[in-house]
Amino acid sequence: MSTTSPAHTADLVVFGGTGDLSMRKLLPALYHSDRDGRLSPETRVIAMSRGGLTDADFRGKVDAEVRDQVPIDDPATWQRFLGRLHHVSVDVGGADKSGWGALSRLLAGHEQRDRVFYLASPPRTFGPFCRELEEAGLVTPRSRVVLEKPLGHDLPSAQRINDEVGAIFDERQIFRIDHYLGKETVQNLLVLRFANAFLEPIWNSLWIDHVQITAAETVGTPGRRGYYDHAGALRDMVQNHLLQLLTLTAMEPPARNDREAIRDEKVKVLQALRPITGTEVGRFTVRGQYTEAGGMPGYLDEPASTPPTEASRRVETFTAIRAEIKNWRWAGVPFYLRTGKRMPYRRSEIVVQFKDVPHSIFPGGTPNRLVLRLQPEEGIELHIMAKEPGAGEVTLKPVPMSLSFGKTFTARVPEAYERLLTDVLAGNPTLFMRRDEVEAAWRWIDPILSTWESSGDLPEPYPAGTTGPAGAHELLGRSGREWHEEDV
Ligand SMILES: NC(=O)c1ccc[n+]([C@@H]2O[C@H](COP(=O)([O-])OP(=O)(O)OC[C@H]3O[C@@H](n4cnc5c(N)ncnc54)[C@H](OP(=O)(O)O)[C@@H]3O)[C@@H](O)[C@H]2O)c1
Repeated sequence: MSTTSPAHTADLVVFGGTGDLSMRKLLPALYHSDRDGRLSPETRVIAMSRGGLTDADFRGKVDAEVRDQVPIDDPATWQRFLGRLHHVSVDVGGADKSGWGALSRLLAGHEQRDRVFYLASPPRTFGPFCRELEEAGLVTPRSRVVLEKPLGHDLPSAQRINDEVGAIFDERQIFRIDHYLGKETVQNLLVLRFANAFLEPIWNSLWIDHVQITAAETVGTPGRRGYYDHAGALRDMVQNHLLQLLTLTAMEPPARNDREAIRDEKVKVLQALRPITGTEVGRFTVRGQYTEAGGMPGYLDEPASTPPTEASRRVETFTAIRAEIKNWRWAGVPFYLRTGKRMPYRRSEIVVQFKDVPHSIFPGGTPNRLVLRLQPEEGIELHIMAKEPGAGEVTLKPVPMSLSFGKTFTARVPEAYERLLTDVLAGNPTLFMRRDEVEAAWRWIDPILSTWESSGDLPEPYPAGTTGPAGAHELLGRSGREWHEEDV
């Protein structure tokens, strides 16, 4: 959780500002910030790409592609937003460096403003971009740089990116995005845990049986196989999003709500994860790949520009892992992580499953469960046992006590990118990943990846539209547990 002070006037330079991420996420989020009065009047947004666009071309493109994604209740606000936009053409890594001169001229005279360089471009361009930026003399003490995922594909590549960017920017200037951290429920998890007294005494292995963290998608990978063959569910979702959720669930109460105290506690959780190596990889991890079913194509049959390769056959579109945190609070409590494509529902949630009552005097009870839902509808539910109304025998029923942010609060629930961009512009890094966090996460993931890669095994098939391969159910079934599938 972070407290964000009002943004200073900033020049926000979005490298890759004409790409999909900018058009679908960043520019709509910036418009909302503008509409809600969170951008200072002089703040500018400067998109960079190789596209050769003028300012007018770029404003026309945004008008055509972004306008329909946002509510325009006041055309003057939309025009004001368009007026903030500029475009500079540059080919990073290319021979023609003239674009940097154009950017210099645009930024000249505004050295006292905050400068935010948002790298919404492929990670291979991060190092060259930072170097060329430095050579053009554009990095000021008030500059910050924002890095989008993926931050490497293993520990050495993540370290290389961190070294390249770290050669130009100080760690305090580097903001690594994990958009899950911008979600309301994630920030509410910290409020729930650390602004309420009742949970802390039971937030440990004495009272909690296990935790499940799920990110399920209904979509497959049409047209994205070229990327996904070399990513897979473990790199794409677990190394970043799911491990971030795990750290926030498991971290110790920080001493202060400040930029480093929360991140210090998160990194301790990652360092306490029990490594999964050797034969344990087969016992504690599952990987699957969806196959054709219910009118949906299998992974290998998805539309793609090239035929499937050996990498396509080996990549996992689903993974489930039984993780353990070796510390006093969590010893013996499994944290089950699960993510997959082409599952029957779209849902991201953290389920904290409490232990059963020590002695039951009523038949048919089930243990309490706390569900923190990130999507589709952000909210928190505590499932408690209640008596069904009736004069006969006592019949128990689990009933949810619900907090739906959308229904409880009248204010609009902001998109994750809105929160994160507001924090970047205000210079607040609490909800961004620090270098040691990213690298600790890769350190835990790498042995799983390399064991998978060196084994001759292929991922277990699961029919599209189902909850994953049989192995995922056995992973919990071995200890008499099951995945949380129902609403109650
Ligand atoms: N899309 C998403 O929802 C999403 C979500 C999370 C993370 N990401 C990550 O964000 C990054 C961008 O994703 P995207 O989907 O927006 O990709 P994209 O649609 O391919 O856009 C890439 C942008 O980078 C520019 N670019 C690429 N190489 C360049 C170069 N050498 N010099 C100057 N500009 C260059 C492109 O413009 P020109 O080609 O015109 O130069 C374009 O504006 C990727 O690393 C992706 O993994 C994306």
